This record gives sequence, structure tokens and C-alpha cells, in this order.
Amino acid sequence: MPTIPVITIDGPTASGKGTVASRVASHLGFGLLDSGALYRLTAFSALEANVELTNESALADLAGKLDIHFEGERILLSGREVSNDIRAEAVGVAASKIATLAKVRSALVTLQHDFRRMPGLVADGRDMGTVIFPDAPLKVFLTASVEARAERRYKQLIGKGFSANMANLLQDLRERDERDTQRVIAPLKPAEGAKLLDTSHMSIDQAVEQVLGWYHPAP
Ligand code: CDP
Repeated sequence: MPTIPVITIDGPTASGKGTVASRVASHLGFGLLDSGALYRLTAFSALEANVELTNESALADLAGKLDIHFEGERILLSGREVSNDIRAEAVGVAASKIATLAKVRSALVTLQHDFRRMPGLVADGRDMGTVIFPDAPLKVFLTASVEARAERRYKQLIGKGFSANMANLLQDLRERDERDTQRVIAPLKPAEGAKLLDTSHMSIDQAVEQVLGWYHPAP
């Protein structure tokens, strides 16, 4: 049976990997896994249901029962569109907290593997190359300076109608980086054999071109 190709794109918060992943996927006609959205959806559900962000079993239970549908850019949770709600910074912060919990992470593994379908998948996250798809033929680790990332996040939030403040964002990103890289389970780090791409001084188009240039489909 031919293996289904996967391109993993991991990196820190607001590095632009989501946009790059989505463009690479549409260029190749591949599916897209925004794994961060799964953590955001779990966090969003927990906040709505007043589940403590430290209650590991209850959170894992929520994660395992998520009723999610991805329809292009739209994300539906139990039939209700939450695409914008889950992008709020408070949800991102909560997501990065619950993402440190082992039971939450394992509750989301099968769901993530199910995204691997023909003709291929682009998977975006923190542990796509290290844990979820370690056999991926192309692994990319996409970074950018914290200042460049804060600026991108600022524009993204304002564009979605949220208010934002640069100083707070910078602090938020630094704390999030710290949590993502220092956690015991599936910490953010380049996978073995990953190609490093620093996009601080690169446009999205240039980053997309570079990833596509690295991808060589199996004959
Ligand atoms: O948009 P941003 O890059 O800040 O975050 P995201 O990709 O939407 O993910 C939200 C949070 O989920 C991150 O801060 C990570 O802590 C966590 N996450 C993770 O632990 N593993 C993944 N594969 C994806 C996201």
C-alpha cells in the first residue's frame, strides 16, 4: 500500500506556519490539519463549560468527545460556527496551558491521524514531525523573531476585530514560547531531519515557495 505523504510544519506561536501550511496544501491539492485548532477547541469548550484548566481527566474527556467539522475555512463545534471565537488570545493562552497535559494530548492523537488521507496532508502544529507523523517525508520547522511574530499576531487580531496591545502580545508570546518549549510532553523542538526556515525577513510567498521547493513526491 502506498504511504500517504505528509508535510509537517511545526513552529512557535504566530510564526506564520498556519498561512504557509494552508497555501502549501492548496497548491498541492492536499488536506490540511490545523492541530492547534484542536487544542483551541478543547480549551474553548472547557472555558464554556467552566471546566478547570487543571482538571486533566475532565479536559481529556472533553477533547475525546469533541464534535468538530472543518468546512474549508469554517470550523464547526457541535454544529455551531466558532472559527473566530477560538482565535481569541484568551483561548490561545488556555490552549497552551491544557496542551501541557498528557491525557489531553493523547485524547487528540487518533483524531489527528485520521486526517492522513490521499492524496496527502499538510499538518501544522508543534509536534507534527516529532510525535504525530514522525515518518513524514518532509518536516519543516518554521520560526521568526519574537518581534516579527508579535507584529503578525497584532495584525491578525485587529483584522479579526479583536483589540490588541503590542506590549501585552510580546509578553504573551514569550510566556507561550516558554510553556511550549519547556513542557515535558511533546515539547516544541525541530524534529530529526527537519528543515529550518526563519521567516523573520521573508514574505509568506517566499516561505511557501521554499517549502514547495523542498518537497519531492515519491516516484
Ligand atoms: O496560533 P498559535 O500558533 O498561537 O497557536 P495554535 O497553533 O492555534 O495552537 C494553540 C496552542 O495549542 C499552542 O500555544 C500550543 O501550546 C498548543 N499546540 C500544541 O501543543 N500542539 C500542537 N500540535 C498544536 C498546538
